[in-house]
Amino acid sequence: MPKVVPGRLQTVTETEWAQGLIHSWNDANWFDMPILVGNKIAPLIGASFEQVAVGDSTSVNLFKCLGAAVKLNQPRNVILLEGDNFPTDCYIAQGLANLLPHVQVQYLEPRDKLEDVLSKDIAVVCMSHVDYRSARIRDMKSTTDAVKAAGALMLWDLSHTTGAVACDLLESEADMAVGCTYKYLNGGPGAPAFTWIHPNHANIIETPLTGWMGHAAPFEFSRHYSPASGIRQMVCGTPQILSLSALDAALDMWSDIDLDQLWAKSSSMTHFFIDTVESLCGDHGLTLITPRNKAIRGSHVSFTIDEGGFEIIQALASLGVTGDFRAPNILRFGFAPLYLQFADVLHAAKQLKEVLDTRLWDDDNFRKRGTVT
Ligand SMILES: Cc1ncc(COP(=O)(O)O)c(C=O)c1O
Repeated sequence: MPKVVPGRLQTVTETEWAQGLIHSWNDANWFDMPILVGNKIAPLIGASFEQVAVGDSTSVNLFKCLGAAVKLNQPRNVILLEGDNFPTDCYIAQGLANLLPHVQVQYLEPRDKLEDVLSKDIAVVCMSHVDYRSARIRDMKSTTDAVKAAGALMLWDLSHTTGAVACDLLESEADMAVGCTYKYLNGGPGAPAFTWIHPNHANIIETPLTGWMGHAAPFEFSRHYSPASGIRQMVCGTPQILSLSALDAALDMWSDIDLDQLWAKSSSMTHFFIDTVESLCGDHGLTLITPRNKAIRGSHVSFTIDEGGFEIIQALASLGVTGDFRAPNILRFGFAPLYLQFADVLHAAKQLKEVLDTRLWDDDNFRKRGTVT
């Protein structure tokens, strides 16, 4: 948690909320927060000011974008997604297809070559820039070029990119992007997600979630929906001011970060972790599923292991090292270049060796599973 967040939340609750009451919608700029906070994310994803809206979850924003994309690109009617993408991307597409019977969902399998499946029916392609399991980076420019050459729209999920991996949406001429802010951006639990729409589309797309806060004049209370101009249309209902404020404070530290140095630090850290784990834990059956080539490696490192994956992550947590277990057998370690040090990386690798060498993980205490793994 960024140190500035508690103080900011105190100001928001005690001053803007308790004293300012509803006047803070104007006086504390609450109404404009989705765009003001979006302006702080824009430089991290290669977007410009007034192009990013922050609010709702990534899942909800996927729904808005996919719905807008199939409308914009009709009569094309197929949504193409990686079958192995983060499940919510697939679930949201399935939900949209249930609602709109003419829309179909097609999956890109790992063995498929994208160019071979880009038929004339595909309206939009949705992919993760950095894969949530392996951390493999999909080249944004060449993928977007291929998708657009086939007449489809390109929607990127930047959840594992933003704040750790270089990304240039405008240079790639992508059409849309979404992403969460609770990973490398440190926005906090349930922090609102972002949506970016290419400026060429921003005034012609139609969001399927036509809420009053995306209306051109919400306080005229007119019966019929008329979209606000630009990205503001993607703001659906009342913005989540408390969590937007925490995120806003967390984003302040990015203003003087040299992003090239940050991206470089991320790939050095992941390289160092891979090297160190392989030399310290080489005989414990870990299989690296993250690319060794730094050009296509995001900011996490994943290994599979045949036995005890869940328990190993729990045992590491008991030693103060926080990783993720991803079913069925993946140990995933994320490296936030903004605040982690190489000493932390070495420490994590040594603790992993300790857990594996001593079989610390092989204990009933580490087998208890909460709802969230
Ligand atoms: C690639 C990807 N997309 C979407 C999500 C889910 O986003 P949300 O919970 O904000 O809907 C995640 C969550 O980790 C993710 O990794």
